[in-house]
Amino acid sequence: MKIKFAVIGQGHIGKRHAEMIRRNAEAELVAVCDIATKEYLGLTDLKESFYNTPEEMLAAHPEIEAVNICTPNGLHATHSLLALEAVKHVVIEKPMALSKTDCEAIIFKALQKNKNVFCVMQNRFSPPSAWLKKIVEEKIIGDVYMVQLNCYWNRDERYYLPAGQAGKKGGWKGTQELDGGTLFTQFSHWIDLLYWIFGDVNNIQAKFNDFNHASLTEFEDSGFVNFNFVNGGMGCINYSTAVWNKNLESSITIIGSKGSVKVGGQYMDKVEYCDIKDYTLPELAPTNEANDYGAYKGSANNHPQLISNVIDTLKGRTSITTNALEGLKVVDIIERIYSLRTLNRKS
Ligand SMILES: NC(=O)c1ccc[n+]([C@@H]2O[C@H](COP(=O)([O-])OP(=O)(O)OC[C@H]3O[C@@H](n4cnc5c(N)ncnc54)[C@H](O)[C@@H]3O)[C@@H](O)[C@H]2O)c1
Repeated sequence: MKIKFAVIGQGHIGKRHAEMIRRNAEAELVAVCDIATKEYLGLTDLKESFYNTPEEMLAAHPEIEAVNICTPNGLHATHSLLALEAVKHVVIEKPMALSKTDCEAIIFKALQKNKNVFCVMQNRFSPPSAWLKKIVEEKIIGDVYMVQLNCYWNRDERYYLPAGQAGKKGGWKGTQELDGGTLFTQFSHWIDLLYWIFGDVNNIQAKFNDFNHASLTEFEDSGFVNFNFVNGGMGCINYSTAVWNKNLESSITIIGSKGSVKVGGQYMDKVEYCDIKDYTLPELAPTNEANDYGAYKGSANNHPQLISNVIDTLKGRTSITTNALEGLKVVDIIERIYSLRTLNRKS
């Protein structure tokens, strides 16, 4: 039996979800919805049913089993609750929501309705990420002393004011209410990896700045954040979207008692350094390319594995790769970092 899916939101990533569902032999895409018209979205050849509201779509198709939420960040909670209320499983694009309270509301509803919540953190599927988790968990690298995460990306007017919108501030990206901030939209994948590999953090200190996004976003474009790991050792996140022209890197450096490693590349796809006592780096499977949005690039294109994980879990063959509690944890960490946000523009 095929699992019957629907997708809410048919922008960049919603179209990708729809395509990955179509390509999976054990999945069926029943319907999609978006507030924009089919013409605007370039979906005039769409074979599946199309609706302008999730309410209409859910009412018309009681057979839907799982709903993928691909709308702006600030709408994830509303749309997840709507789908859960209709007794559907939900697959929520990152971040799960923009507050811990909203994540909790999703979890309570899912428990009441006995449905699964899948969070999208597809970088976990990248071979270097899985390898890092292994060498930390199995203490191959020894005790963790220091972890440095560098996320230096380009997000300029080509991202915030795409063709057709140039000259006017529009859309959800860059707004406090629907986007929430750089750590939520650009770098939550990396905060997820930090949490997944090293566990929770405390004693957070942070400094933020907005170098060149004053006319594009309502929040910071850069920050230095440092903390302790509850499991021992200390870490930092240095991030920016103010990099000129294109993404520079997403990298992680770990200093452990038995060795040091660095995984880098534009989206943490290459092991650049590995020197560990009595250990040889195994050959890792190649990492998928980054999502390519034309003028800018995103995170690893691992959405096929995501859809397979949903199907495998619903068919009882495996468990959820990123569950609701982990989705909540990432939001909780970002909320705690942002509680320190007092922004200086161009200081
Ligand atoms: N996992 C990843 O690598 C990845 C990559 C890109 C985006 N995302 C996430 O996916 C989400 C969408 O991002 P995007 O880049 O596709 O944005 P987008 O702006 O391209 O698409 C969002 C779509 O949602 C639609 N929408 C807005 N309000 C709606 C409503 N009330 N009902 C139905 N549709 C509505 C918009 O019309 C638009 O088509 C965001 O949460 C983002 O963080 C994740």
